[in-house]
Amino acid sequence: MHLLETLVAAAALLGVGVEAAIPKLPLPKSCTGVSAFRNANTVASGWSAVKIAGGLKQVRHVIWDSEGHMLVSQATRGISVHTFGADGCINSTSLLISGAQLNHGLALTPDSKTLYASSETTAFSWSYDPVAMKVSNQKTVVKGMSTGVHSTRAIQVVAKNPNLILLQVGSNANLDMAAANKATGRAIIKIFDMSKAPSAGYNYNSDGEVFGYGLRNEIGFVADPNGVFWGVENSGDDFTRTENGNRRDIHKDNPAEKLNNLGDPMTVRDAWYGYPTCFSVWDPSSFSGLKTGSHFVLAPNSSYNDATCNGKAIAPRLTFQAHSAPIWNTFDDDAKNMYVTFHGSWDRQPATGFKVVQIPFTRLADGSYDPVAPADSMTGYKDIFSATNPASCTANGLTQSNCFRLTAASWDPAGRGLFVGSDNSAEGEIYILSPK
Ligand SMILES: *[C@@H]1O[C@H](CO)[C@@H](O)[C@H](O)[C@H]1NC(C)=O
Ligand SMILES: *[C@@H]1O[C@H](CO)[C@@H](O)[C@H](O)[C@H]1NC(C)=O
Repeated sequence: MHLLETLVAAAALLGVGVEAAIPKLPLPKSCTGVSAFRNANTVASGWSAVKIAGGLKQVRHVIWDSEGHMLVSQATRGISVHTFGADGCINSTSLLISGAQLNHGLALTPDSKTLYASSETTAFSWSYDPVAMKVSNQKTVVKGMSTGVHSTRAIQVVAKNPNLILLQVGSNANLDMAAANKATGRAIIKIFDMSKAPSAGYNYNSDGEVFGYGLRNEIGFVADPNGVFWGVENSGDDFTRTENGNRRDIHKDNPAEKLNNLGDPMTVRDAWYGYPTCFSVWDPSSFSGLKTGSHFVLAPNSSYNDATCNGKAIAPRLTFQAHSAPIWNTFDDDAKNMYVTFHGSWDRQPATGFKVVQIPFTRLADGSYDPVAPADSMTGYKDIFSATNPASCTANGLTQSNCFRLTAASWDPAGRGLFVGSDNSAEGEIYILSPK
């Protein structure tokens, strides 16, 4: 299918209006005025990489409006909007919303008329004019989100009913035991109906409905063409496993980071994914009788063991190397592949992550989308762009490193490829990775 047909088909499938077609743009070889890549990188064969923007603040998320303009959430700065010239390079940049507290989430309704962005505690909406690239009518739509170690709040709009938004809050500690209770409003994704929002905004913890919980930090999630959401989850650090009074360090290659099939928010409610009790195996050699992707408990006892978890908690559909720190995911045009950015580790020597991976997907006989690899695979994804020597990448704090810190991932509606961002505090950058 050509891009336009794909967009039309996807829009028809999602039951949303067909948006104005976004004209195709050429892939630039380089862009005047954009500095060189700040950090050494390796591009997989069959792919190219171009830096399209530099000198930004911490890039967290990249989205597109109905005119093909690029909106970028830059933590510590706000939301910027960028237009492109006929050469495919950026030809204008302006700050749409100034707000140092806006630190991650960014979403538009399918008609591009309502924009959402988030701070640690609050989600806001604006009326957006994609032609003039102006916002007005700022509202607080959800407030009272917890504060703690995980400070970013991902937002997505449900295309089948654009009144519904999904809003995520992570745990407030490595092992946030209280988050087992949904009422804490942590380790959770909730659904809020914007058509019924109180004028002062919903209260996150007491209002809305629960889409999924037991999600330690589901920092990014994206819908496939059927409207089923797929989330990437950052799992725990410094773990040990205690069996029969014997405690072992398992942290180097366990627990796995997860790719969860979160289901369709039109129907799924209260799905439980295991945190803070059940975690997923990456390296099975640390366990007897468990495979990659199986759930385990940190300390099995007579009332709760690995089998209890595997009977109760929804297992991930695929897992990633422990401590990769997946931040965001996106599909290509026809959902043949998902791409995930790995921010990179601090809790592992040698370091890992600091790359973009591709997960081949397939369409099953029932029409659903699914990864090609089985759930116990350790090879279900491959690197397409990575730090040249990831093992030597440092991670001082969340955004300092001698390597890029990959965050945003978004497939370009103008056909140039995969846009990815870095929130390295030395320089926010955006690259285009393109299949040759
Ligand atoms: C950017 O390029 C587009 C396409 O060529 C053009 O329509 C637009 O006027 C340009 N904007 C600026 C600010 O140069
Ligand atoms: C058994 O393990 C479960 C899950 O980790 C925990 O909630 C429970 O308190 C434990 N029970 C005992 C008696 O330690």
